Amino acid sequence: MSSERTASADIGIIGIGVMGTSLARNLARHGHAVAAYDLDPEQAQDLVTDHGSEGTFVPAAELDDFVAALRAPRVAIILVPAGAPTDAAIETLVQRMDPGDIIIDGGNTLYTDTQARGAALEGTGIHFVGMGVSGGEQGALLGPSLMPGGSAESYERIGPMLESIAAKVDGEPCCMHVGPDGAGHFVKMIHNGIEYADMQLIAEAYDLMRRCLRMKVPDIRDVFASWRDGHLDSYLIDITTDILGHTDHATGKPFIDVVADAAGQKGTGAWTVKTALDVGIPVPAIAEATFARSLSGAALERVAVEELDIDPAVTPAEGDVAEWVEAIHNALLASKICAYAQGFDAIQLASEEEEWNIDLDHLARIWRDGCIIRAGFLNYISDAYIADPELPSLVGDEWFSERVEECLPAWRKVVALSASSGVPAPAFASSLAWYDALRAGRLPTALIQAQRDYFGSHSYNRVDKPGRFHTRWELPERPEEQWT
Ligand code: 6PG
Repeated sequence: MSSERTASADIGIIGIGVMGTSLARNLARHGHAVAAYDLDPEQAQDLVTDHGSEGTFVPAAELDDFVAALRAPRVAIILVPAGAPTDAAIETLVQRMDPGDIIIDGGNTLYTDTQARGAALEGTGIHFVGMGVSGGEQGALLGPSLMPGGSAESYERIGPMLESIAAKVDGEPCCMHVGPDGAGHFVKMIHNGIEYADMQLIAEAYDLMRRCLRMKVPDIRDVFASWRDGHLDSYLIDITTDILGHTDHATGKPFIDVVADAAGQKGTGAWTVKTALDVGIPVPAIAEATFARSLSGAALERVAVEELDIDPAVTPAEGDVAEWVEAIHNALLASKICAYAQGFDAIQLASEEEEWNIDLDHLARIWRDGCIIRAGFLNYISDAYIADPELPSLVGDEWFSERVEECLPAWRKVVALSASSGVPAPAFASSLAWYDALRAGRLPTALIQAQRDYFGSHSYNRVDKPGRFHTRWELPERPEEQWT
């Protein structure tokens, strides 16, 4: 424990890498004195050398000095790699901290790890906050979207600081107390799942234009540029426009043509899908997006299939290109609505099960800027949850269902085009299948229930009376028994 006399920093950051540096600078620029510690002491020193003029930094070569520099109740943000490094940082902090102090994990951490870490600190009086941070390096510096979980008491201390550095929309900070324990990291995980789906959908739209409509890259770029004005207006459409407009310096080719097509992933998309499977909530657009990345990286399998004597030719689309572009726009909008709906529906369900009480209207508002999935239609998502905070699915909201119904004929055409031409659009197709299943009224899963009863005596409900039933399939008369 160190003397309070030396404490001069409002907040500390452990891990002065790319994100740590940006966040430290953002905090300092907003008048908060920032203590900085990194395993490599030069990192903290460089922060002062390179950016000392932006505010007050207190670099610390030792963790004891770092903790001593923090004024009580102390607040320390950990921004080190997930897993063992995060555990080590928490442990060393706990040894030096007092009840009432706050440890924030600002990394992309699986929310169940956050829950376990929070539970392990119960009884110490130290608050543990799992905080989602979105927006990358630029966001962290200029205004991220921040999603802290943890206790309401801890938010009273950290909220004003975090809100001061977050992105703002009409003066409203893109930061909220999401809910207790793992709620912050849970919504960040879902944010990333939506991010995966949105990126995949945009890539599919690009591919359909390029290969089915035989459009040139600059023309596709112009289409994306024009989509910025409507309901598709979003950060990801913006950067897509920019990327497609970029020419490779070395070859003079469109940049997109020199980038290797194996997409990486650090795991948050897969976490979303695994979690969704565990809690039984379908997120097929996110799952397809995650699998599409895996498939893109499956080099051996792809080569093996490429070496078969199969004609890879694509059947081009027939008809007016402008009409097809409009259809792809509508397919993208409808699919994107479904992807966001799947994410918000998952949060709605988890919030109920975990009793997090997440305010979905507010959550939609803090994603309107700073984060990767920022998009114009988050305003409508916010409106939908204001109108009905218990909305079971976002596609059940009037505004969204009207948009999806308007897009439906074009969406079907585009999914059919993908199948008939041989240009895969798995996220478009699975979103459509998800939407059709939701509106089907009656699903063929009745047959699955019958099959389960047939071979496994799993029993079934009937549509016409209460109770559990089993048919004695092995007997010629097929008598039905009521089990409960
Ligand atoms: C954000 C992003 C970020 C994420 C990267 C990389 O909100 O700023 O979601 O947190 O780590 O986008 O993710 P992948 O490597 O999995 O694509």
